[in-house]
Amino acid sequence: IPDCLAFVSTFFFCLVVSFILSWKLALAALPFTLFFIVPGLVFGKLMMDVIMKMIESYGVAGGIAEQAISSIRTVYSYVAENQTLEKFSSALEKTLELGIKQGFAKGLMMGSMGSIYIGWAFQAFVGTYLVTEIGEKGGSIFVAGINIIMGGLSILGALPNLTGITEATVAATRIFEMVDRVPTIDTEDKKGKALSYQMASKNESSDESSYQTEGRRRHKMHVAPSPISYRSSAASTPALNPFSPALSIGTPYSYTIQYDPDDESVDENMDQMAAPAPSQWRLLKMNAPEWGRALVGSMAALGSGAVQPINAYCVGLLISIYFRPDKAEIKSKSRTLSFVFLGIGALNFTSSLLQHYNFAVMGEKLTKRIREKFLQKLMTFEISWFDQEDNTSAAVCTRLATEANMVRSLVGDRMSLLVQAIFGSLFAYAVALKLSWRLSIVMIAVQPIVVGSFYARSMLMKSMAGKAQKAQKEGSQLASEAVVNHRTITAFSSQKRMLGLFKETLKGPKEESVRHSWLSGLGLFSSQFSNTAFSALAYWYGGRLLIKGLITSEHLFQAFLVLVFTAYVIAEAGSMTNDLSKGSAAVRSVFAILDRRSEIDPENQWGLEIKKAIKGKIELRNVFFAYPTRPDQMIFKGLNLRIDAGRTVALVGQSGSGKSTIIGLIERFYDPMKGSVSIDGQDVKNYNLRMLRTHIALVSQEPTLFAGTIRENIAYGKENAKESEIRKASKLANAHEFISGMKDGYDTNCGERGVQLSGGQKQRIALARAILKNPTILLLDEATSALDSVSESLVQEALEKMMVGRTCVIVAHRLSTIQKADTIAVIKNGKVAEQGSHNELISLGRGGAYHSLTKLQGGNSPYRR
Ligand SMILES: Nc1ncnc2c1ncn2[C@@H]1O[C@H](COP(=O)(O)OP(=O)(O)OP(=O)(O)O)[C@@H](O)[C@H]1O
Ligand SMILES: [Mg+2]
Repeated sequence: IPDCLAFVSTFFFCLVVSFILSWKLALAALPFTLFFIVPGLVFGKLMMDVIMKMIESYGVAGGIAEQAISSIRTVYSYVAENQTLEKFSSALEKTLELGIKQGFAKGLMMGSMGSIYIGWAFQAFVGTYLVTEIGEKGGSIFVAGINIIMGGLSILGALPNLTGITEATVAATRIFEMVDRVPTIDTEDKKGKALSYQMASKNESSDESSYQTEGRRRHKMHVAPSPISYRSSAASTPALNPFSPALSIGTPYSYTIQYDPDDESVDENMDQMAAPAPSQWRLLKMNAPEWGRALVGSMAALGSGAVQPINAYCVGLLISIYFRPDKAEIKSKSRTLSFVFLGIGALNFTSSLLQHYNFAVMGEKLTKRIREKFLQKLMTFEISWFDQEDNTSAAVCTRLATEANMVRSLVGDRMSLLVQAIFGSLFAYAVALKLSWRLSIVMIAVQPIVVGSFYARSMLMKSMAGKAQKAQKEGSQLASEAVVNHRTITAFSSQKRMLGLFKETLKGPKEESVRHSWLSGLGLFSSQFSNTAFSALAYWYGGRLLIKGLITSEHLFQAFLVLVFTAYVIAEAGSMTNDLSKGSAAVRSVFAILDRRSEIDPENQWGLEIKKAIKGKIELRNVFFAYPTRPDQMIFKGLNLRIDAGRTVALVGQSGSGKSTIIGLIERFYDPMKGSVSIDGQDVKNYNLRMLRTHIALVSQEPTLFAGTIRENIAYGKENAKESEIRKASKLANAHEFISGMKDGYDTNCGERGVQLSGGQKQRIALARAILKNPTILLLDEATSALDSVSESLVQEALEKMMVGRTCVIVAHRLSTIQKADTIAVIKNGKVAEQGSHNELISLGRGGAYHSLTKLQGGNSPYRR
């Protein structure tokens, strides 16, 4: 609101002043302000729309990556790396297109801002007429003209604030609706009976809903069926920032677009990496195929850079022309000048368009390339890398989204702006020095103060905003956790406590904001003060030079305007250095991933020839193992296990004894610390892992499905599967019936991670997926645990058929299933404590581990009949 007011008041006073000075010029030139307001707005809106679409479309690609990374074990075991990458890549194609479109729209917007120069051309024309024919004063005409242009720019500045205000109003309405809503089940309702801490007896006849709900819930414990997972999503809004300090000569220069979905996450990563500077060069090399674009874009940037100094020069000239005594000279010179202004407009349009378009193409292609390489590389990393706390799927995906995006803005926006700014300021210095070296030297000497204060202000604003955001983050995280887990919170009646915690987190941001406003006010003051002081100095010293006859008034104005403009350009370029350093941190962190060597390299060349078949003999020999994230907790201490080809072994043992871990070792998700895992007598370390994994199918303890149809999920490990094969597999897995019962049958969507299906349904689809793969080695980790006993025995039957002729490692809790295995291995204390058939193990008697696991202890056994 205050920004908007400030802009509106600028507009108002500009109008008043220009009408007082020359109402004729003001009236004539006013319509021209529409010339740059309208296209600026239209193209700006277009660009924002494209940006929003882009964010959305990256969401699709990002979703694919996120799912793959969060279910990396499934991706690995079904050798779906390439498939994932292809999907990711084709989803990125859309983002790429939109990104290029966005560059084009940005070019149009920046280019159309050049209609300001058409405004100048028109003013030169009308002004000359007014000065020569009507006899108005040159000075008044010029100042009136500048005021009209500034007024137009302030309207342009006010408009985004207006949209902000309307959006805020809408948001406020929604918030109030939410606040005023009375829930149908009101936990705060005071009408119900207040319960004492003794739960009313069960046969109490009164209706449940008449209890005061909160009191009731305290007595009833409720455990959410699925594990609670906390995630925070960083909302992102791109900001159009038309805050132009270069308003004084009507330059659209500082229209910068910031689109950083989430800077801070990069900040956090920033310090971790050592600083190999050559990474920028590598980046450029990766962009090598677009060298032609780079060339054209840079040339265009040179053009854009030259626009401002030329404009300033001409505006300076225009002032002096008005003061010429000879009317004919005024006319002829200003006519030429009008044409020059038109030319500047044309130059600005073409160079902006070419610059932004070409750099956008470069940046987008590079980003896509980097994202693809990034994901490709990630999908070679060993599982224990993903186990690390820093590398949760959310964190990794954020990096994939933001760091690549930083790289894009580094190439697409910053580099082109930098070329433009450096060239523009060099050009301006040269022009100014040529015009009047005395004035220029003095002004250049004090320029650091102006630049410094502007720079300091923008840095201050940025860092403060960052801090405020960070402070806010805690609160929003808490709030989003509260919303996600509202069932748990309601069930435990901890609303009040959550609210207290939330209030606590808001204290920091509030203090931060207050400080923020003080400092930003101070910053605004100092930068404007130094600005005005800078002009005052220039006028004073210029005046002295004028008196001494060392400068002409024409050159004074020109040099002054050219240098004022440069100050802003430098300041602007300076404020970009922060982004540059952030960008290079992102680049380094990207390369840190790209350069990392996986400890378990799936692309090992050896054993590519096992394409056809393996026999399936598995042997774990003297295995010592601890998870790398918990090196102190030894899971296996000298474990030996031999499974002959085509046999079935059942792993039994207490929860946490390491059954799933054995399966993970066979898949080579992890390597043992000591000892070996071998298949067909060959250490798994020697195989080409992807080849080996095509022969192994895993149904893991928690089945993971992917967003997509049921058919896609079943065919996950075998993309070219025929429809009949898919049906056969799902019939075997006892899934066909429920699938065909659904409205869309096999085309039913599973939802993200399969949330739209029940646990048992997911499990059967996962089974069908494994069956379809037709593996030599079948690993079933409690593959039927989520099924009711009828379905389970049906599926079990199917599985038994399926297990014939394959090597199977099964973990199950059903004695009947276990009994049918060829041998049973009891895992205890990091070793295979006993191994043998059911009868053999039972005959070991009461002291036997199997005996005590399965039989006794009054129903405490994890195993069921
Ligand atoms: N990724 C991991 N990182 C660190 N520790 C792990 C990891 N996975 C499992 N563990 C630990 O290793 C031990 C063995 O786990 P494992 O999953 O093999 O047990 P399990 O026998 O399959 O148990 P359950 O019957 O409950 O499935 C447990 O103590 C567990 O906490
Ligand atoms: Mg397990």
